[in-house]
Amino acid sequence: MTGRGAAVVTGGAGGIGQAVLARLGQDGFVPVSWDLSADAKAASLALAVDVTDAQALAAATDETIARAGPIAALVVNAGILGPVAPVWELAPEDIRRVIDTNLVSAFLTCRAVVPGMRERGAGRIVLMSSVQAKEGTALAGPYAAAKAGMIALAKTLAKEVADRGILVNAITPTVVRTAMERAITPERRADLLARIPLGRFLEPAEVAEMVAFLCGPGSGFSTGAVFDLSGGRATW
Ligand SMILES: NC(=O)c1ccc[n+]([C@@H]2O[C@H](COP(=O)([O-])OP(=O)(O)OC[C@H]3O[C@@H](n4cnc5c(N)ncnc54)[C@H](O)[C@@H]3O)[C@@H](O)[C@H]2O)c1
Repeated sequence: MTGRGAAVVTGGAGGIGQAVLARLGQDGFVPVSWDLSADAKAASLALAVDVTDAQALAAATDETIARAGPIAALVVNAGILGPVAPVWELAPEDIRRVIDTNLVSAFLTCRAVVPGMRERGAGRIVLMSSVQAKEGTALAGPYAAAKAGMIALAKTLAKEVADRGILVNAITPTVVRTAMERAITPERRADLLARIPLGRFLEPAEVAEMVAFLCGPGSGFSTGAVFDLSGGRATW
């Protein structure tokens, strides 16, 4: 398949982003990364963009359309874990930073890209949530709350754009084997692993496969939905 338009992946320089860009490139999209770092080797076009900055996102949208064509798919994937601490020990600025980087940025990114999709009457959006959105996670409150907000955003936006041929879904991975996973302490790693019935962490390529499905022709009747990637950990 070729000529499917641009696929923008925010956080494209990261572990999951790289795998998603490579997979969408194989499917005939022009893979475009928007990340703080312009070093995204799997992208045909890699722009340095801070996804918490609405003006930067507007400029990136224009530049992407000019250089890579209309944005056919958007994967809202940029994110940070933030401090590992109980709610009462979190600094106010850390709470704001984690929710801003994970959730407000998701609104801003969709806000920048959706008008072009509405004009063309087509588009796929995948929001990278987390299994932590469903469970809540001790010591990662702002992250879990932001990821839960992304599920509500997917359900909301899906309803708003359904009449324009745009499908919006969220995915909820458990721990993926990336840099974020390598930063986990051994005790926390053992605890997380014990909660996954399949007994292992998730591979970036497995995340990319689900994103490709949600951006492809096989998922035309799914929108406002949440797709599980938890190895049996999540019960809903
Ligand atoms: N790794 C996991 O276990 C896991 C599990 C579930 C969900 N997720 C989510 O998947 C996404 C990708 O995670 P990853 O494991 O690839 O992490 P990663 O740290 O490798 O990649 C995240 C990328 O986001 C970028 N980024 C951060 N803040 C940004 C900003 N303000 N503007 C632009 N880019 C910014 C970083 O530069 C980085 O390249 C994140 O949203 C994460 O929360 C990860």
